[in-house]
Amino acid sequence: VNFETNWQGCYKANLWSRVASRIVKPLLDFPAYEPNDLYFNIKKHDFTKYIPPNGTLEVVSQVRDCMIRDQRFVALKVKDAIVDQFRDQFGIRPDVDTDNPDMKIIINGHKNNFSVALDTSGDGLHRRGYRVQGALAPIKENLAAGLLSLSGWKPGQKLYDPFCGSGTFLIEAALWQNNTAPGLLRKKFGFQRLSNYKPELWDELVEEALSLEGKSEEIGIFGTDSQSQVIQIAKQNARSAGVDHLINFARKEVSLIEPPAPTGLIVTNPPYGERLGNVDMLKDLYRDLGFALKARFKGWEAYILAGSGDLTPELKMKAQKKFVVFNGPIECRFLNYPISVLR
Ligand SMILES: C[S@@+](CC[C@H](N)C(=O)[O-])C[C@H]1O[C@@H](n2cnc3c(N)ncnc32)[C@H](O)[C@@H]1O
Repeated sequence: VNFETNWQGCYKANLWSRVASRIVKPLLDFPAYEPNDLYFNIKKHDFTKYIPPNGTLEVVSQVRDCMIRDQRFVALKVKDAIVDQFRDQFGIRPDVDTDNPDMKIIINGHKNNFSVALDTSGDGLHRRGYRVQGALAPIKENLAAGLLSLSGWKPGQKLYDPFCGSGTFLIEAALWQNNTAPGLLRKKFGFQRLSNYKPELWDELVEEALSLEGKSEEIGIFGTDSQSQVIQIAKQNARSAGVDHLINFARKEVSLIEPPAPTGLIVTNPPYGERLGNVDMLKDLYRDLGFALKARFKGWEAYILAGSGDLTPELKMKAQKKFVVFNGPIECRFLNYPISVLR
């Protein structure tokens, strides 16, 4: 997604986006067929304004269908062109630091077209800072928020996740309901390492975000999971996100689930083959889920994130809408079942 803004707008996007993986500032776009094309095009932009000459940098690259095939070589050539700018101007050059650089440059090559961007996020924005401990196979926080959005869930609507694991869907929903900026808990962002960083502009945004946080105490978000230690982790995560008062967690086997309210939305990702469990056990589990939904959840609507080796036919329910989504490299489907219309 592209948008135009100033630097404070860039800080704000980092603070408030629930779905972005990172926010980058596009710097250059050019065709390149051989290494020197990379080198000379990079020289067209002044990189010395972003960090001091004794700072650190990292260049990451991704290349697909290009004549210059080796992406490590692309990163190396771009890095050389950038550090030469510093050396020519100051006599010294930044060091490479791949763990914790001051400036991270992202280069993408596709069909001989290269785009170069300055990262402003640092760690991926899914790292909100509330996850105390990961349970088995937690979903990324920004993916959970994106799926909630795709499901049409709106703050205030009852929400239930019967395979809640570490509680990611529910915590993201509660943060949203509370109008909490998802970046408020994070200690650091990439833009804070750049030479033009203005802490007072950032402080203003944080103040504003704190003043906008909701005061609701009503519990409308519910999670259950069969494993008690997983529920403990979910509770800890919700507490560290500051939204434990908005979510009710309980241990429950999926075959025994009951609706926590007369109507509402279920958003969940049951275990799936790639990461958890074996197929026969999983088939039983999907049958149990389908049975419970049809028997007891009339008036509800469910959105189920199903991984590869799709087991949703075992639900014996007909999906009304299907979206293809990616959970990291895993192609998944996000399936919608309005339970009221089922026989
Ligand atoms: C893919 S994980 C869900 C991850 C979760 N969305 C998160 O972000 O942490 C599936 C969860 O289903 C739970 N589970 C497995 N079998 C279950 C069952 N029979 N009844 C209820 N929960 C079950 C597991 O304990 C696990 O936490």
